[in-house]
Amino acid sequence: MKALILAGGKGTRLRPLTYAMAKQLVPVANKPILHYAMDGLYQGGIRDFGIIISPETGEAIKQSLQGWKKDDVRLTFILQDEPAGLAHAVKIAKPYLEDEDFIMYLGDNLINADLGSHIAEFKAKGFDASILLKQVPNPSSFGVAELDETGQVMRLVEKPKDPKSDLALVGVYLFTHRIFDAIDRIKPSWRGELEITDAIQRLIEDSSVVHSRVHTGWWLDTGKKDDLLAANTIVLGDYMNYEVAGEVDAASSLQGDVHVEAGAVVRNSRIQGPVMIGKGCLIENAVIGPYTSIGDGCALKECSVENSVILEGCHIEAVPGRIEESLLGKGCRIIKSPVSQESHKFLLADHSEIQVI
Ligand code: DAU
Repeated sequence: MKALILAGGKGTRLRPLTYAMAKQLVPVANKPILHYAMDGLYQGGIRDFGIIISPETGEAIKQSLQGWKKDDVRLTFILQDEPAGLAHAVKIAKPYLEDEDFIMYLGDNLINADLGSHIAEFKAKGFDASILLKQVPNPSSFGVAELDETGQVMRLVEKPKDPKSDLALVGVYLFTHRIFDAIDRIKPSWRGELEITDAIQRLIEDSSVVHSRVHTGWWLDTGKKDDLLAANTIVLGDYMNYEVAGEVDAASSLQGDVHVEAGAVVRNSRIQGPVMIGKGCLIENAVIGPYTSIGDGCALKECSVENSVILEGCHIEAVPGRIEESLLGKGCRIIKSPVSQESHKFLLADHSEIQVI
């Protein structure tokens, strides 16, 4: 079975971070979101991957996946000229997918599902499509499935204003080649996109067998800042182990699951796990954690940081109070003003946000 990973589109919801990087490459626990998708599919037995990329971020996605690639894996990149919808992405991938069954995975989704068993069930039972669902408090933000009392999928609606169910479509789908014919018969939605939800609805109307599975583990659509912080919390909590490859002096204390990568130095600091400290970081006279990921090459001195994601190359120094629930892009600097006690000075990119006391 092949996999089709959707890593194109526009990352408007994670601005300003996504001005500079693809949303699928934003790191959670210092690993790009997209790599979690690749790992999950690889563990599920997939070796042949088609990756949808956009003209804007395609090169960065390619480069990042070269760092992930394994010897027994084939990667095929498929350029989508504009983000014309999930079903449009499937349509242009037809020459790559041919007539094989495939699993489609949205590259900005994080999910702890056993994809191997999902794939095995799909193959064994001969479904035409299989979708993964999850109960959510805000169904209007997603594609929503209505089931009958036996659990059979009756109707799918994309981002309904008045949802009739709280079961959202998770970004993992299994299809046979029948999906192509269904896509050929749908029209763009109100948001101008060819929706995969509408194509699956077509399959239901054709009396094709559309199976659903309700996912009970966690699923994170990392679209917005708070979603990303929640993803960071869950992934650090679930996957982090105590591991110190860097240097930690005797005046520092490390508690819980703290990961200090090679070349990082921790001096006179208190680290409360789960915390991930990237390669070559300098942490000095600081209090870090819990639930904090610090990218490679950051310097954090005389500061306190908790429940935050700090991307590579940031510098935080002599900041009074605690920094929490924060998301910093690459190379940001937060430092105490050397001249004035009374004024704040900012250099912010478009759509940045600062909350002051
Ligand atoms: O996250 C789950 C939701 O994903 C589902 O509940 C919805 O039914 C489904 O339509 C989708 O909704 P979103 O509005 O969240 O999709 P988004 O535009 O964020 O795109 C999802 C991924 O697909 C993302 O990694 C970008 C990529 N993409 C998107 C479009 C529109 C492409 O590669 N090409 C595209 O044309």
